[in-house]
Amino acid sequence: MMQAVWIEEFGPVESADVRDVPIPEPGLGEVLVRVGAAGVNFPDVLVIEGNYQVRPPLPFSPGKELSGEVERIGAGVTSVQPGDRVAALVEYGAFAGYAIVPAGHCFQIPDDMSYTDAAALGLSYQTAYFALMERAGFKEGERVLVNGAAGGVGLATVQLVRALGGVVYAGVINEEQARVAKDYGADHIIDLMDAPVRDRLRDQVRQASDGQGVDIVIDPVGGDIFEASLRALDWCGRLVVIGFAAGEIPTVRANYLLVKNISVSGLQWSDYRDRQPEKMAAAQRHMYELYRSGKIKPHAEVIEPLTEFKRLLNLVKQGQIRGKAVLTMA
Ligand SMILES: NC(=O)c1ccc[n+]([C@@H]2O[C@H](COP(=O)([O-])OP(=O)(O)OC[C@H]3O[C@@H](n4cnc5c(N)ncnc54)[C@H](OP(=O)(O)O)[C@@H]3O)[C@@H](O)[C@H]2O)c1
Repeated sequence: MMQAVWIEEFGPVESADVRDVPIPEPGLGEVLVRVGAAGVNFPDVLVIEGNYQVRPPLPFSPGKELSGEVERIGAGVTSVQPGDRVAALVEYGAFAGYAIVPAGHCFQIPDDMSYTDAAALGLSYQTAYFALMERAGFKEGERVLVNGAAGGVGLATVQLVRALGGVVYAGVINEEQARVAKDYGADHIIDLMDAPVRDRLRDQVRQASDGQGVDIVIDPVGGDIFEASLRALDWCGRLVVIGFAAGEIPTVRANYLLVKNISVSGLQWSDYRDRQPEKMAAAQRHMYELYRSGKIKPHAEVIEPLTEFKRLLNLVKQGQIRGKAVLTMA
């Protein structure tokens, strides 16, 4: 048997519980991982409530990123062996003593990397990496405006842009977020509360970039900030839509695209995981190199045992975590 956060019916986080349930068996192409640590993300709340785009079959255990040791492998698996230390990104199932993972969604982690760091260097970093490298086509030396810069995806993007030789313009909404973004390496702070944002965001970016604007915007925020950010792009700039933390889905005015030869693209990271797992693995290998050379460092701000899952999910839901919340298994 194993301990697991166990969801029998969709509903509020408060109604979820830790139970003793049977350890699952790996099937064809699958791996059973003894979980060491699991990262907590806002979508986990939505999954538990039944409000996420993918609703797991009931009953299930939530949790989308984990690290641990391979316990057993299913038929046909050759890429990992029992005893390997791995990290994995899954649709659900990480908040448990053991998790089933498709072998292609497992990465071997560096020998000197803790399970806590490995769980923290997961979904947010993959999202940031694919937004920058795959959707925006980032090149060394480019200027990148990162909205929601003190959030999970935002901080990962700030670190990656710096690690890859770019210049970071961190879009934040208060002093504390500005301090956190600076700690992570932001070069310039852009105050997203400076009204009217439609003009002031562009003015601030131009002031900090010798009048040029930014080459790339990574936008997990949406709302009014989205259109204001489009106006802050330089000629041939690219904006990547990541999410709508502000709660409002904006529309694109096509004349903006035409006038400055700019482009807007979207990212649904999990599609890359499911359709091009080899690209996800290559991205993770690159990020492990950056980690080993000290250029990126995930920050697990809160580390608690599995039984504290409700507290961590609520902290994440209330936006009170800077960096990462991580659950550890006994
Ligand atoms: N497309 C994908 O594949 C993908 C992958 C992962 C995540 N996402 C999405 O990306 C979004 C961000 O995820 P996350 O994990 O980074 O969330 P997060 O940690 O909550 O970060 C969001 C950031 O945006 C800030 N923010 C909220 N409302 C704002 C507003 N009106 N104006 C300016 N800033 C605002 C938040 O500040 P406070 O903390 O003060 O609220 C926080 O710093 C979510 O919508 C998530 O669903 C998408």
